[in-house]
Amino acid sequence: MTRPILVVEGIEKAYLGRDGVLRALRDISFEVGAGEFVTILGPSGCGKTTLLRILGGLLEPAEGKIYIDGHLLSKPRREVGFVFQAPSLLPWRTVLGNATLPLEIQKQNGLSAKEKALELLELVGLWGFENAYPHELSGGMQQRVAIARALIHDPSILLLDEPFGSLDAITREQMNLELLRIWEASKKTVVMVTHDIQEAIFLADRVLIMSPRPGHIEAIVPIDLPRPRRPEMVYDESFSGLFQRVHRLIG
Ligand SMILES: Nc1ncnc2c1ncn2[C@@H]1O[C@H](COP(=O)(O)OP(=O)(O)OP(=O)(O)O)[C@@H](O)[C@H]1O
Ligand SMILES: [Mg+2]
Repeated sequence: MTRPILVVEGIEKAYLGRDGVLRALRDISFEVGAGEFVTILGPSGCGKTTLLRILGGLLEPAEGKIYIDGHLLSKPRREVGFVFQAPSLLPWRTVLGNATLPLEIQKQNGLSAKEKALELLELVGLWGFENAYPHELSGGMQQRVAIARALIHDPSILLLDEPFGSLDAITREQMNLELLRIWEASKKTVVMVTHDIQEAIFLADRVLIMSPRPGHIEAIVPIDLPRPRRPEMVYDESFSGLFQRVHRLIG
């Protein structure tokens, strides 16, 4: 692994629910190297979103520490971009207006914000759509806007929570290839949550496997498939070997 950019140490989290305390995460520890692509795989309700929100500084853990590039995390930071399960765009703003929003909130609007956003929209394959409104876009295109918006601060780490979960299988495969292209071009560190085994293996350098609730890192599987990844690779013997291994660990 390269120099660790994200260090997670002993994270614990519980929620106070209707039936008392619900333990969501149990002693989560791992590291992610700079420029690495890590996927987190686990069953529904195991605490994946909870973990990602904690990594993004959006939720506080009960115990444990997170270091981003050596700095203790205590609130959301510009070095971290977040893409939610749903694209959550503002319907009354254009594609460009949605992409520049984080900069406007910090009063950094102006020509450079617009230029930056246009560059990112080109990177995510939305060149020519900057003046369209969200309802004029497909689901995949909306999620691309959300990715551009997350990249606008030039974060070193991009956190993605099942970003393509609501898309059909064909669009999803396309979006996976797009994401790898963006990752390779922008040299970001990516941590992506998914519950799709094939997607987790296809994208990642390493797959982190979570247990059912309370979520715990059960295993870490290195994915030694060559890059760039090609869609046909899923038919290779090495891919199905990894699939079987991960499937057994999840089961
Ligand atoms: N705000 C909350 N208050 C109470 N319980 C919560 C809250 N958010 C999550 N939980 C509970 O914590 C557990 C983990 O939820 P979380 O959303 O992190 O799971 P997940 O792995 O992302 O699931 P999915 O794959 O369905 O998105 C679940 O049992 C959920 O009911
Ligand atoms: Mg979730």
